Amino acid sequence: MLIKRKEKWQESENSVTGENAYLNRRNILLGAAAAGAATIIPSVLAQPQRKLNALSARKTDYSPGESPSPEEAITQYNNYYEFGTGKSDPAQNAWRLQPKPWSIQVDGLVDKPATYGIEDLIDFNALEERIYRHRCVEAWSMVMPWIGVPLSSVLKKIGVQSGAKYVRFETLADKEQMPGLRWPVLDWPYTEALRMDEAMNDLSFLVVGLYGKELPNQNGAPVRLAVPWKYGFKHVKSIVRISLTEEQPVTTWQASAPREYGFYSNVNPEVSHPRWSQARERRIGEFGRRPTEMFNGYGELVADMYAGMDLARNF
Ligand code: MTE
Repeated sequence: MLIKRKEKWQESENSVTGENAYLNRRNILLGAAAAGAATIIPSVLAQPQRKLNALSARKTDYSPGESPSPEEAITQYNNYYEFGTGKSDPAQNAWRLQPKPWSIQVDGLVDKPATYGIEDLIDFNALEERIYRHRCVEAWSMVMPWIGVPLSSVLKKIGVQSGAKYVRFETLADKEQMPGLRWPVLDWPYTEALRMDEAMNDLSFLVVGLYGKELPNQNGAPVRLAVPWKYGFKHVKSIVRISLTEEQPVTTWQASAPREYGFYSNVNPEVSHPRWSQARERRIGEFGRRPTEMFNGYGELVADMYAGMDLARNF
C-alpha cells in the first residue's frame, strides 16, 4: 500500500507531461476567451458561486508584486484525494459535495465545546481578502486571492484552555459525497494540525472564498485552512472538526509516510524531500522554474516561532 501511495506522489511530482498538457489546454482556453470565443468549463458552470461580502478595505497583499494565478488554474488543478488522485478529479467530482448547511464539531481543551453551524464560528461580516503564495510539496506553486478570517478569531470565540498546545483539523469523510474514499490511498478522514503559536499567528487563515466568491467545492468548500509558509498539504479542506489537544497529533501524511512528511512541513528549499529537491518550484502559468524561498517568503512574519529549532530534523 505504501508503495502504491508513493507512486501516486511520484506521478504527481513527475507529471511534467501532464502539467504541460494542462498548461497547453489552459492557454488554448485563455486564447479562445481572448478571441471572443465561448469557453465552456462544465465543472465551473455546474457550481455557480455566490459573491461574498469581502471588504475591499481589508484586502492585504501578502505576495507583493505578483498577480493571483488565473481562476481556472486554481479551480481546475487541485489536490483533494477524497475526490480522486488526479489533478482534474476534484473539479470533475466535487459537485457531489454538499457544503450547505455545514457544521463543525469543536472539542478537546476548549471553553465552549459544541457542534457549531459555520456561521456561528466565522463572522461573514468581517471577511478579508488576502493574496497568498501557495507552495505545494510537489514543487509547483500558485498565488491565491483567498477570502476568509484569521484562524485566531475562531480560536478566541471557542476559548482556548491553558493546557491546549495544538489545534487538530479533520476533513469530512462521507462515502456518499466523496468517491475517492472507496480507495485506501490515505487513512481517512484527512487530518492536519498546527502548534498553538502557529495557529494564533495572524497569517493562519480560515478560507471561505476565492476570487470574491464562495469557495468552490474542489478547493475545500465551505471552509479550509491556509498557512502560506507551509507546504500545501497542511491546507486541510472541508473542515468538520476542530480539536484542541495537549499532545502533538499525528497527521494523515505523517502517518502515511513519516520519512517524507513531517509535522511542521515548513517550506524549506534546503531540506529536500527524500525523492526530489525542494530548491525550485514551477509557478503554474509560467515557464521554467524559480527558486523557492525559505518559509515561502514569509520568514519575517514566522521565523521567530522556530528560533533554535533544527529545521532539518523538524521538517
Ligand atoms: N485536504 C484534504 N481533505 N484532502 C486532500 O487531498 N490535499 C492537500 C491540501 N488539502 C488535500 C487537502 C494538498 S496536497 C494540497 S497541495 C492542497 O490541499 C491543494 O489545495 P488547492 O487544490 O486548493 O490548490
